[in-house]
Amino acid sequence: MILGILGVGHLASAILAGLVRSGITDTILLSPRGKAVEIAARYGLEVCRDARDLVVRADVVLLAVRPADAASAVAGLPWRTGQVVVSVCAGVPLGDLPVAPARLSRAMPLTAAEINASPTIFFPDIPEARQLVERIGPAMALRSEQEFEVATVNAAIYGWAQDLIRRSAEWCTQQGTDPQTMRQLVAQTFVAAGRLIAEKDQSMEAMLTELVTPGGITELGLQVLADRGQPQAWQAACEAVLSKLTAEPA
Ligand SMILES: NC(=O)c1ccc[n+]([C@@H]2O[C@H](COP(=O)([O-])OP(=O)(O)OC[C@H]3O[C@@H](n4cnc5c(N)ncnc54)[C@H](OP(=O)(O)O)[C@@H]3O)[C@@H](O)[C@H]2O)c1
Repeated sequence: MILGILGVGHLASAILAGLVRSGITDTILLSPRGKAVEIAARYGLEVCRDARDLVVRADVVLLAVRPADAASAVAGLPWRTGQVVVSVCAGVPLGDLPVAPARLSRAMPLTAAEINASPTIFFPDIPEARQLVERIGPAMALRSEQEFEVATVNAAIYGWAQDLIRRSAEWCTQQGTDPQTMRQLVAQTFVAAGRLIAEKDQSMEAMLTELVTPGGITELGLQVLADRGQPQAWQAACEAVLSKLTAEPA
């Protein structure tokens, strides 16, 4: 199998790092522009002459250009039957990408692909797309494009979680604690919170009821957050992202 990467920027770099870590043996071709030359040198990959050359040679094409560039990047290229395109372009519907007769799937990786820890949603469930995203972390097939769009909000939540980790660690450091220790402690606490929910069958409501001791510190903090507009502020942020994702491109 030959994998072609069309759009070699920030996300493609993270995905490539994960693919290489996963022990991929397929040939990987890169489109020119962006970080292509640097990445090609790092992993010993070939940079194609242009996007047409890449599409002619690749069996599976990962499309990772910016959303506004997606439709024009794939238009007029020699797509063929049997080929698969996996688009990671946020908010770009399947119907906006003229790649027929190639089959098309959308995926939404996180930069944790770099360490093979990206939970990656994809739709529709095409075997070649599944095989690709499984290499960079847990793959999650969704049931419809509408469901995919809502779940794409999680890609922004990932960044908010990192911001919360940073702010929490910085606050601890301002109180005189060691920055590296606090970075590790807070980050590993978020990992622990996520893993426990992901790996237990118990309802989240029941888990939190057990966790939040009446009169305890967790309850106190939740009350302060509620007084300052949580969870409404968080929900408003999710709504804003979904509106942006589903808006017609300017
Ligand atoms: N960053 C993330 O964490 C993340 C997460 C999930 C999904 N995504 C999605 O991934 C896509 C890429 O995001 P990014 O952050 O990686 O953006 P980026 O760093 O700007 O990378 C996009 C790359 O595509 C290149 N490009 C644009 N048009 C091209 C064309 N016609 N042929 C070949 N290359 C072309 C650009 O080259 P030039 O610099 O020369 O223009 C640039 O190197 C976006 O659609 C985004 O929604 C990103």
